[in-house]
Amino acid sequence: MKDAGKKSFSVVIAGGGSTYTPEIILMLLANLDRLPLCCIKLYDNDGERQGLLAPAVKILIEERDPSIEFVATTDPEIAYTDVDFCLAHIRVGKLPMRELDEKIPLKYGVVGQETCGPGGLAYGLRSIPGVIENIDYMEKYSPNCWMLNYSNPAAIVAEACRRLRPNSRVINICDMPIGLEDSFARILGFQSRKQLDYRYFGLNHFGWYTSVKDPEGNELLPKLVGHELKYGNTMPGESMDDYTDHTWYDTALKVKDIVSLDPSMAPNSYLQYYLFPDDMVAHSDPHYTRANMVMDGREKRVFGECARIAEAGTAAGTTLKIGIHAEFIVDLATALAFNTHERMLLIVPNNGAIENFDPEAMVEIPCVVGKDGYEPLSIGKIPTFQKGLMYEQVCVEKLVADAYEQHSYLKMLQAMTLSKTVPSANVAKKILDELIVANEGYWPELH
Ligand code: NAD
Ligand code: G6P
Ligand code: MN
Repeated sequence: MKDAGKKSFSVVIAGGGSTYTPEIILMLLANLDRLPLCCIKLYDNDGERQGLLAPAVKILIEERDPSIEFVATTDPEIAYTDVDFCLAHIRVGKLPMRELDEKIPLKYGVVGQETCGPGGLAYGLRSIPGVIENIDYMEKYSPNCWMLNYSNPAAIVAEACRRLRPNSRVINICDMPIGLEDSFARILGFQSRKQLDYRYFGLNHFGWYTSVKDPEGNELLPKLVGHELKYGNTMPGESMDDYTDHTWYDTALKVKDIVSLDPSMAPNSYLQYYLFPDDMVAHSDPHYTRANMVMDGREKRVFGECARIAEAGTAAGTTLKIGIHAEFIVDLATALAFNTHERMLLIVPNNGAIENFDPEAMVEIPCVVGKDGYEPLSIGKIPTFQKGLMYEQVCVEKLVADAYEQHSYLKMLQAMTLSKTVPSANVAKKILDELIVANEGYWPELH
């Protein structure tokens, strides 16, 4: 129930037609006591796709709290006028373009992944203008609004925000730490990830936990790493059936190999694509990638269930579930709205936080969040192995932003060549040339 004394907020979900929208709505509705809402809007530039979800979302909201106004629109002025928070999860080019991002590199024996390797760089060049467009709408129609942006590839999008809209109220985030911390809590025998205190440094989808402490302040990292060296992030006796699908199970297991390269830290599992690209390619089917799994799985399930709800006129007995993804977003919005000073991992300008790293890099580090935004914690110096890996990757991300700004073929070729996932400039050029054709109409014309 809403607390009568508490201010209530208006939110817009940008990318309203996303497969993640219903679970975010459910999370918002489950947390109205923490974050009271008076209005929820969906905004998408594809009205048809959003229209497949909107009737069900309307029913979910009406059944939970009919006092909340609901709007679904493709008009940026209606969407962005009078809003306090924009939750942005757009995918420029949608899932069919993700499929090409994954399949084109795999043709050349290179990692085909949504955010890592050439596919991630291609997606970066598509995402930048879409995210910037949404920031501009927000600033025009609701200049005091905060955008909580988890549109991928978050690292490149964050670098573009730093350069192109440095004073915007945009906070770039990723839900991967939530998934990892849930595993850590399970491994260490805690009920919730929130019972533990973490230290972490890195780039998005490219980092390491250096401390995991219990509520009394005892360091549990050696125990965690001891487990990871044996089981990765799986539990003894677990099988594929305990995971949403086999790719996440394989990823949890692969942590065993990643952590062996530096057992003093617990790695982000996305490092598998950079440290073991050969294994990743060997385990990929170049004709059926993650995008196909998502289109055949999450997309069908969510859109099917939304159609069922709309048809039935009620969400009673729905199979839609609150996503872990969404929990973080509510926590962040609550911290900004009510000055909670909660500590969270955000993607922010380094600015000296990692002492021996580029001050102009966008890094993922713990920050304290309150009414005026975030304050990063000081990390100190990082070791040579991690610093070297991160510097190579951050330069790749910066070269993509350069390619976008300068419409430069050469910068994009350099980005692909420098990526740890690509074995040679010959291969980089072949992949790039094919991606240029595939991305016609999305990328700036490169010359
Ligand atoms: P999706 O294709 O189902 O949905 C994305 C929606 O964005 C589509 O309806 C599309 O029409 C819309 N869109 C595209 N360009 C737009 C623009 N310029 N303005 C407004 N709307 C636009 O994709 P999905 O699989 O649900 O994923 C959505 C996004 O969330 C992706 O970027 C995904 O990578 C990201 N994501 C990020 C994290 C994270 O940790 N940062 C976690 C999960 C998902
Ligand atoms: C994690 C990452 C996201 C990524 C998602 C992909 O949540 O943090 O950045 O988008 O995984 O999941 P999917 O099911 O779409 O492959
Ligand atoms: Mn992520």
